[in-house]
Amino acid sequence: MALLAQVVASMPDPTSREQAALLEAELATAHNVAHAITVSSGTAALHTALVACGIGPGDEVLLPAATVIMTVAAVVQAGARPVFVDAGPDGGLLDLADAAPKITARTRAVVPVHLAGRCGDLDALTDLAVRAGLDVIEDACQAHGSRYRGRLLGTVGTVGCFSLKDGKLVSCGEGGYLVTDNPDLAARAAAFRTHWQTPAPGQPALSRLGTNYRLAEPLAALARCSLARLDDTLTHRQQVARHLVELVGDLPGLAHIPATADEQPNGYCALWRILLPDPRGLCRRLADVGIVNSVGTFGLRAAHLHPACQELHPAPCPRAERDIDTLLAVLTPEDDQRVDQIAALIRNEVQAW
Ligand SMILES: Cc1ncc(COP(=O)(O)O)c(C=O)c1O
Repeated sequence: MALLAQVVASMPDPTSREQAALLEAELATAHNVAHAITVSSGTAALHTALVACGIGPGDEVLLPAATVIMTVAAVVQAGARPVFVDAGPDGGLLDLADAAPKITARTRAVVPVHLAGRCGDLDALTDLAVRAGLDVIEDACQAHGSRYRGRLLGTVGTVGCFSLKDGKLVSCGEGGYLVTDNPDLAARAAAFRTHWQTPAPGQPALSRLGTNYRLAEPLAALARCSLARLDDTLTHRQQVARHLVELVGDLPGLAHIPATADEQPNGYCALWRILLPDPRGLCRRLADVGIVNSVGTFGLRAAHLHPACQELHPAPCPRAERDIDTLLAVLTPEDDQRVDQIAALIRNEVQAW
């Protein structure tokens, strides 16, 4: 609170970006990367990353159909065309066998989305991207602290994008950031984030149009406090997720989705596959009794099915549709007391469904 009061007192100075600059240095250290750029949301991070990769009108970007609408919106905001990729038969969100034939001369990047802090076979995806000359823009908005083969998600590809929205493992209400080792990309991202007023090297100020995606100073101060607790938050959320799965136990009609040997998820969500009729109805029912879950609470569905995506003429992605429709992704609570209640509610509701 003292830090926040101090930041608010300094706000009459319109040039101060002290907290955002400190946060960027701390984020770079925490992710073991050369550069972190703060922005005003996870969606802004994705948009900024795409622009900083030089992606725009005429370009195509591959992304899983099994994603949130924000990933799609960022690609469209950058002026590029989203090309939806189906989920894999093994449960991975982005099927390489479906992605490969969708690569054209216009394809510039692939966006793996680490829903629930999971990532599937990221090495195979990166190999495909390298062979095709594509940037890998990781949507790591749900993946703070998750690892793949020991590497932090968001640091495997060209650039990683994170959200600081409430509920995430690092949060300040609203906000976002991107991380990269590429200095030119970082400079372009920083320039775009503030109307190209601080230009990328070799470019005059205001030589391009950007936007205002700055993270407000009080929010940056809050994010610094949250980041300082990340190790504890991570351990806690991972324990809570494990505990919740144990308490729910074996139930007919509900199958836990374990992490693969290569994934170390951050405990953001606990995941089950629903094997009962009307799985979306069950998710909504669970939301009604207070269990925050992706499908029931936030209306998650395969992105290519949203009315807003129909003008993109998406190809069918039946596995993504089925995988999302039967997914129970419960956000892990901070409060240990709630775990028992949530587990009991899930058991009761599933048995009664
Ligand atoms: C996977 C994913 N991508 C992108 C976003 C967008 O982040 P924001 O809400 O901060 O714009 C979110 C937000 O929850 C998300 O979960």
